[in-house]
Amino acid sequence: MKMWAGRFSKEENKEVNDFNASIHIDSRMYKEDITGSMAHAFMLGKCGIIGENDADLIIKTLEEILNDLENDKLEINYEAEDIHMFVEEELTKRIGDTGKKLHTARSRNDQVALDFRMYCKNSIVEIKGLVKSLIETILEISKVNIDLIMPGYTHLQRAQPILLSHQLLAYANMLMRDLDRLNDCYKRTDYMPLGAAALAGTTHNIDRFMVADKLGFNNVTLNSIDSVSDRDFAVELASAISLIMMHLSRFSEEIILWCSWEFKFMELDDSFATGSSIMPQKKNPDIAELVRGKTGRAYGNLMALLTMLKGIPLAYNKDMQEDKELLFDSIDTVKVCLSIFTPMLKTSTFLKDNMYNAAKKGFINATDLADYLAKKGMPFRDAYKLTGSIVLDSIKNNVTLDEIKLEKYKEYSNLISEDVYEAIDLKNCAAKRLSFGGTGKDMVLKQIKLIEEELGK
Ligand code: ARG
Repeated sequence: MKMWAGRFSKEENKEVNDFNASIHIDSRMYKEDITGSMAHAFMLGKCGIIGENDADLIIKTLEEILNDLENDKLEINYEAEDIHMFVEEELTKRIGDTGKKLHTARSRNDQVALDFRMYCKNSIVEIKGLVKSLIETILEISKVNIDLIMPGYTHLQRAQPILLSHQLLAYANMLMRDLDRLNDCYKRTDYMPLGAAALAGTTHNIDRFMVADKLGFNNVTLNSIDSVSDRDFAVELASAISLIMMHLSRFSEEIILWCSWEFKFMELDDSFATGSSIMPQKKNPDIAELVRGKTGRAYGNLMALLTMLKGIPLAYNKDMQEDKELLFDSIDTVKVCLSIFTPMLKTSTFLKDNMYNAAKKGFINATDLADYLAKKGMPFRDAYKLTGSIVLDSIKNNVTLDEIKLEKYKEYSNLISEDVYEAIDLKNCAAKRLSFGGTGKDMVLKQIKLIEEELGK
């Protein structure tokens, strides 16, 4: 029988109950729900709203319920409407009338807001840990492979020589911003909503700050209507997750390209690749493809959350029950993707010679030749134009810039002398880009150091 049976005169309808229920989704918040209730009961006792003995018994029993759930001694009853109902029903089953006092000065509206915020806070901490370990892996790989030169691309056309480490560290920088976004989102999630009750607050003399303190919240929400209506924190987290997934997806795309025979810049460890059921030669980057593919889910969840919220009046509406399924899916997705992406990257091998050979082709030192001429006094636009015609001739003659003889160079311009070869040497081209944030080795080493410092290492 339903808790609200008193107000109703008709039998329940199973289909309606099933449609209305959320326990299959929110049962994962059992721990947050129980610890939230324990803090609430503690406060009710301390404030004299219920007897301290009652509060103690409620807290002790809630703790037993939590232990029983964690030790598989108690199973969640999926007939309950949601996790809040289940816990309260179980409590009342165990201690009778005393259990019925728990819900004093509280509604499921503020209760679910509390549970959800607690769950998000914990998830943010977990996701941050996973992002951090990916950044650390990138830093490690960047240090080990610091001398590897590869072509940098624009428009997927070879552009300029860069260090592999520099390219990988670009992702580390994106992930550092992701950490920042998670921290920021945490700050706004860290507001304790309990005490808003249904929407208007309560006539009981409660102490919301005591509850916040007990549950490790830094702040207490200021407006009871906002407390039960606000899901901005969920949207923010879904958005921060979408950006992490977008970054992982771009990284995955490059890994997929780099593993192809067309590039062959890297090789995945066998344990992170898959074969084909028909083509014996295949070694496929399925994991990277799945990460890329799952990014769509994260975007979808974000859009669904925003859309679910856009038309609902204040305060709580049942539409909002949809929030958890969406955000939980985003949280699960980003966690599983990060958990598998990091070891996949860690165990990959970068193929130095293939990268270097690719860097040799495609005239990626043409900018350096133009810069060389500019440094010798030719206006850059003229140097750019002359280099363009040297490249065009070289394509016709099937030579690279470093294969052109000095006499030939002198025909193009008598500003060119022997030192041109040093200027267009790929290693030098990469090493000399020492402008702050550039790909020069010393600058890249500095970049690594600065990221490590920011990570507190
Ligand atoms: N299962 C509900 C949810 O997730 C809990 C809040 C229910 N409140 C209510 N007034 N029906 O949103």
